[in-house]
Amino acid sequence: MNSFTFTLFIFHVIILLQCLSFTGAATCHPDDEAGLLAFKSGITQDPSGMLSSWKKDTSCCSWKGITCLNSDRVTILDLVGFPKKPERSLSGTLSPSLAKLEHLNVINFGDHGNITGPFPQFLLQIPKLRYVNIANNRLSGPLPTNIGMLSQTLEDLDLEGNRFTGPIPNSISNLTRLSSLVFGGNLLTGTIPLEIANLKLIWAMKLGNNRLSGTIPDIFQSMTSLRFIDLSRNGFSGKLPLSIASLAPSLLVLDLSQNNLSETIPVYISRLNRLEKLDLSKNRFSGVVPKGFVNLTYINILDLSHNLLTDPFPILNVNTFDILDLSYNQFHLKTIPKWVTSLPAIFSLKLAKCGIKMNLDNWKPVAPIYYKYIDLSKNEISGSLERFLNQTEYLLEFRAAGTKLRFDMGNLKFAKTLKTLDLSRNLIFGMVPEMVAGLQRLNLSQNHLCGMLPATKFPASAFAGNDCLCGSPLSPCKA
Ligand SMILES: *[C@@H]1O[C@H](CO)[C@@H](O)[C@H](O)[C@H]1NC(C)=O
Ligand SMILES: *[C@@H]1O[C@H](CO)[C@@H](O)[C@H](O)[C@H]1NC(C)=O
Ligand SMILES: *[C@@H]1O[C@H](CO)[C@@H](O)[C@H](O)[C@H]1NC(C)=O
Ligand SMILES: *[C@@H]1O[C@H](CO)[C@@H](O)[C@H](O)[C@H]1NC(C)=O
Ligand SMILES: *[C@@H]1O[C@H](CO)[C@@H](O)[C@H](O)[C@H]1NC(C)=O
Ligand SMILES: *[C@@H]1O[C@H](CO)[C@@H](O)[C@H](O)[C@H]1NC(C)=O
Repeated sequence: MNSFTFTLFIFHVIILLQCLSFTGAATCHPDDEAGLLAFKSGITQDPSGMLSSWKKDTSCCSWKGITCLNSDRVTILDLVGFPKKPERSLSGTLSPSLAKLEHLNVINFGDHGNITGPFPQFLLQIPKLRYVNIANNRLSGPLPTNIGMLSQTLEDLDLEGNRFTGPIPNSISNLTRLSSLVFGGNLLTGTIPLEIANLKLIWAMKLGNNRLSGTIPDIFQSMTSLRFIDLSRNGFSGKLPLSIASLAPSLLVLDLSQNNLSETIPVYISRLNRLEKLDLSKNRFSGVVPKGFVNLTYINILDLSHNLLTDPFPILNVNTFDILDLSYNQFHLKTIPKWVTSLPAIFSLKLAKCGIKMNLDNWKPVAPIYYKYIDLSKNEISGSLERFLNQTEYLLEFRAAGTKLRFDMGNLKFAKTLKTLDLSRNLIFGMVPEMVAGLQRLNLSQNHLCGMLPATKFPASAFAGNDCLCGSPLSPCKA
């Protein structure tokens, strides 16, 4: 969404350019030319020729990635790399000579993957920055404690996917025009500074995948523009702060997964009634899920897996789900809930170890053809998979390991889309059909299968512990 803001920004710039009936490149201010050429010399590799137009004594305003608005001064540096392809992107360092470009508003220099060095301190000297994206490079070291001395006009600061260490400096609170704080995927430590509460215009707070710790501070009262919160994959502990309730109704995404959060899921979460994604998975939340979740009618991704939640689970009132995952809690759902079975569309349903005791022949989902991922492992599910699998058309993955399915594997038919089938530790009998050769992952270990295996690429452990299977990768069949 950051790139979305940027796209909008560039769009405005282009409109502006057209209004000014911009006619080719102005000559370039000598300071800007010198700054850019010094920057170029800090780049050690440019395999795709991104900087090949950057030549002395040609106007730098016409160089690739450079825009001068209105004058001979460079206002935009827009050179993004190729995500996940450092071999095509720029390598090297970010030369401090860029500080000479006093009129820069926009630095869009993300996704190079192989740009190293410390936090670009020179940014603090550029007075009118509005947008800085240096995400997905290989910058490292601490964030400067005086990061708050960055331009007071700064609206976007995207540092995601580098190797920055140490704490988030308190002075960040001075950047009151910031609309997003995107620091995810670094090695940041310490707690979230309380001063962040000053950033009242922020709509995205993305601090996921760092090493932050402590409690989530009670800072949200005044941050009513927040739409996206991602604090996942850190070491946060304790209970959820009350002020999250102030984000009703506008909050859309709350991702707190993979932390060490505990106590109950607060009732006030139900008031966030525009939530589309709630991910609390892999924490230590306990107690019941509030009945008020029935009011989360826009929820599309609900992942509560790997917590200590208990019965009863509320009835939800939604039309479709991309992901519903309640696995590995302390639920005893007894059956796949009726409101799930009657959903007109659901793509990923994961109810592993949910205390389900039912016969799969009695499960008649309204829209089986939409299912893509299903995990019903570690439940007391009996009966046959034949009827259900026969109705799916787009299924990619089916897991029911450690249940009590009992049917003749030889008759099983499934959608050609299926990639993963895990039916280990069941009571399945018969022969292994040739059709399984088209799968990418298969596990049929610990069943009652028999007969000669079809030719597949799966290891022996996929077939171990059956009654009388033979042939590669198991021992040869007796003639
Ligand atoms: C990354 O940069 C280093 C030093 O400039 C270089 O030796 C290496 O080949 C680069 N790696 C890639 C994938 O471009
Ligand atoms: C924050 O802003 C105030 C007022 O503009 C200024 O006095 C202070 O030095 C700034 N602090 C930092 C750390 O940038
Ligand atoms: C999680 O929090 C509990 C206390 O609530 C603590 O005992 C435990 O060590 C924490 N675990 C981790 C991995 O931080
Ligand atoms: C759902 O929201 C309505 C209106 O705000 C409220 O009256 C009702 O109590 C809520 N339902 C639950 C179960 O909390
Ligand atoms: C599978 O589906 C086909 C066509 O929809 C139907 O004729 C057949 O009886 C089904 N088989 C099973 C085992 O349900
Ligand atoms: C199949 O599942 C068993 C446990 O049920 C496990 O030990 C084995 O490694 C798995 N094999 C494959 C290929 O996934």
